[in-house]
Amino acid sequence: MSSSPAPKYRREIANFVALTEDLAEKRLVWKSRPHFLEYSTNTACNLRCIMCSQVENPPVVSTPKELRAPLFDELFELTTVLTPSATSEPLLNNLKELLPKVREHQVWLDIITNGALLTPEVLEQLLPNLHHLTFSIDSQIPAIFEKLRAPAKFDDVVPKARYAIERCKEVGLPVTIHMVLAADVVPHLEGFVDFVADELGGREITVLELLDSSENFEALDAFAAHGEEGVGAALAAMTARAEERGINLRIEVHAPHGCEHTNAEQPVRINSATVIEVMHLELDQAHLGFCPHVMGYLKVEPDGSAFPCCRGPRELHLGNVIEDGLEAVWNGEAAQDLRKRMFSGDLPEVCKGCSVLEAPKWFS
Ligand SMILES: C[S@@+](CC[C@H](N)C(=O)[O-])C[C@H]1O[C@@H](n2cnc3c(N)ncnc32)[C@H](O)[C@@H]1O
Ligand code: SF4
Repeated sequence: MSSSPAPKYRREIANFVALTEDLAEKRLVWKSRPHFLEYSTNTACNLRCIMCSQVENPPVVSTPKELRAPLFDELFELTTVLTPSATSEPLLNNLKELLPKVREHQVWLDIITNGALLTPEVLEQLLPNLHHLTFSIDSQIPAIFEKLRAPAKFDDVVPKARYAIERCKEVGLPVTIHMVLAADVVPHLEGFVDFVADELGGREITVLELLDSSENFEALDAFAAHGEEGVGAALAAMTARAEERGINLRIEVHAPHGCEHTNAEQPVRINSATVIEVMHLELDQAHLGFCPHVMGYLKVEPDGSAFPCCRGPRELHLGNVIEDGLEAVWNGEAAQDLRKRMFSGDLPEVCKGCSVLEAPKWFS
């Protein structure tokens, strides 16, 4: 009998089936492991966007070099999709170190980038393992873009995004444009749809609710500046324009604004990540109210701290994978307690109203 490990796709499917059993039996100790990992070896960023915690110049934290390879091996074994970020710029990972490990473990990349470092050469290095590309371009108005995303230059980032979107279209890869719903952008949402369609050649926009991540939150708060009704009217006009222009629009903003509108086919390069993601969307539907991230997502910070949530709230801290290993964190006391609360509907305060938890209900 051969002792070689099963191929990755077999292990991914077995892992998904294990999760369906973990959920059906309301287990607290899970046989399944996270399929979606957020991990960067460092917290560095080349920008200082005024809505982001990076504006406060936090010290850069890195995983010590000698720990990276064993950590990649442990974390990537059952990872299908990796977003190599830590409230940081993913393209500041050492790609010569990261990409061979990504290839070795057949991991797919979900890159969310500010775009400034995404030259055609870097894009070509990523393409073989790229699953989804997202550009953060908050405004079509250069002065607003440069105010929000300093020191990036509109005329530098936009051509890089345009090129990458065209190249991704050629190879059948979906691209999304992120915009953070800051007060300054609210009067210009319809124009943003036209900009994405005409200037970038994009097909999909996601609007993110502004989180209280920086000292500038109050000054940038769209709801304080325009009111619930004002923001709601602007989002409704944006939605109508997206429909007219054939642009997909996902609005990740608190109720009643959150929604998703599919107005165009995105290119799809079928790989195990595409299939596993669709299987998870179905599972999310079958378990409304149980957070999709708690089901299969792990955020690991460069110092090893792990969270079941992309926002990394300290009250949901699960442990440290460098000190204790993945198994101890994934099935530790904090993880079991969170699962118990998800099964019973006794949600932690930080989870209430979160768009990750709410999104599956938009389709049900
Ligand atoms: C933290 S960034 C990391 C990736 C990369 N550096 C970038 O900007 O795309 C991930 C996403 O969060 C968004 N973001 C930054 N500050 C935010 C805030 N206060 N509220 C909501 N989203 C925010 C960014 O625009 C980006 O789309
Ligand atoms: S939003 Fe992204 S690009 Fe901007 S400072 Fe934060 S991590 Fe950097």
